[in-house]
Amino acid sequence: MEFTYLQKTPLYNAFSELGKRIFLPDGIFYWAGRAKKEAEIIGTIGSAFGYEKDFVDGGSSDWMPCYLTEISEYFNVSIQDVVPYVSIGGLNETREIWKDWVLKKSQLDEIKEKDLIEKLEKQITTPIITAGVTNGIFQCSSLFLNPGEFIIAPNKRWGNYDNIIKKYIGAKIKSFTFFNEQNIDLESLELAINEVVSVQEKIIIILNFPNNPTGYVPSKEEGKEIVLLLQRQQRKHNKPIVVIVDDAYEPYVYSSDSINRSIFYDLLQLEEDIIPIKLDGVTKELLMYGGRIGFITLGLKSKWVDNDQELELLKKEIENKLEGFTRATISNCNHFYQALTQKLFKEKGIDKILASRTKVKELLRERYEMINAELAKIDDPNISIDPNSGGFFLFLNLNPKKIKANEFGDHLLRKYKVGIIPMEKLDEQINGIRIAYCSIDLSKIPELIKRIKLALNDF
Ligand SMILES: Cc1ncc(COP(=O)(O)O)c(C=O)c1O
Repeated sequence: MEFTYLQKTPLYNAFSELGKRIFLPDGIFYWAGRAKKEAEIIGTIGSAFGYEKDFVDGGSSDWMPCYLTEISEYFNVSIQDVVPYVSIGGLNETREIWKDWVLKKSQLDEIKEKDLIEKLEKQITTPIITAGVTNGIFQCSSLFLNPGEFIIAPNKRWGNYDNIIKKYIGAKIKSFTFFNEQNIDLESLELAINEVVSVQEKIIIILNFPNNPTGYVPSKEEGKEIVLLLQRQQRKHNKPIVVIVDDAYEPYVYSSDSINRSIFYDLLQLEEDIIPIKLDGVTKELLMYGGRIGFITLGLKSKWVDNDQELELLKKEIENKLEGFTRATISNCNHFYQALTQKLFKEKGIDKILASRTKVKELLRERYEMINAELAKIDDPNISIDPNSGGFFLFLNLNPKKIKANEFGDHLLRKYKVGIIPMEKLDEQINGIRIAYCSIDLSKIPELIKRIKLALNDF
């Protein structure tokens, strides 16, 4: 936006540097808004949608956001769960429940690997509650980045990282090229680390698997290589490496070749000063986008302290830092959804939650399989699909010499009534479309791909 009128006002002159710098980019909103009006098939929305009967027993034929059926009985709730302030870091019981959940998601065997679980339990902080994963990203980026400093991220990333890191904090993003053909480009990641290490005393990285916008999840082999690379780099440079692990889409992995748990756990096991921070939330994990409840869990190294007592004190100090941040920004988070999360785990139990979610995950898996199979049938040298095996999206690259993504998005919408999100950042080697198959019914996928193919033939 140009701010033509605002700039002429005394209000603008009174703005801080941040006030002048910040704005809401129109990319996704522009295309999603147009798709709503113009499209017959809409693949712009980053939330899972389906026919209710496909994910709830006895559900209707209405097209609606996928949800866990267990939540519906909690909307007639006690005043105590809605009105009072919650403590700054969040409801203690919800935090403890989520800590257990983080432990469970390590997939360690509760009986056979009891010792490992106990070790893990010691190594992680009790999660602090944030206003969604976005707020966790904001808090962590702000805690580690001064204006002008670098954070390393793949070139294909959630656009809001740029808003938070560049526009809000005034820090810089060192992009690495995400893929070399069908694999993660580890050379490019290594190069980025070497460049950053020459100008600052710490390395901050943000990783997000399953990834938005590509749906990429590392294969088991790649997962190991990423961990080894970071270990090597830390030993070589002897500077702390903080890895912000954005686990927004954590459970939605559809291929058995891909890593089936967050990379947070492997990084935590390393002796080196590689500090993983896990960001997750009820948003996508429990299908409650509007709930705005996320969690920050820090991974600590036992060598930082001499004994368990010191470890507990260290945890308290970290908690204080994070709570200081929350207090200064949002004060505390939504009470109702913290209480609801707690009730779901306590009263319904994890097995029931998972059973309900599995229905949604299976819907998404079917779409993932079909959309990839349909795309594979297109024989066109000007397109390629990024490796994908999870999440809500996939990314179709277009040859920039033949087709520009924005022009393609516009053409697809006008002529074929298909809404997707074009992404055109040629200086970052990005030119393609993000397809949110999470919000397209299985039955429409062949037609979607047919229309994309027709549109491609027009160029
Ligand atoms: C990669 C990624 N991280 C974080 C978020 C934000 O999650 P939340 O809605 O919990 O703030 C999104 C939402 O689209 C996302 O795609």
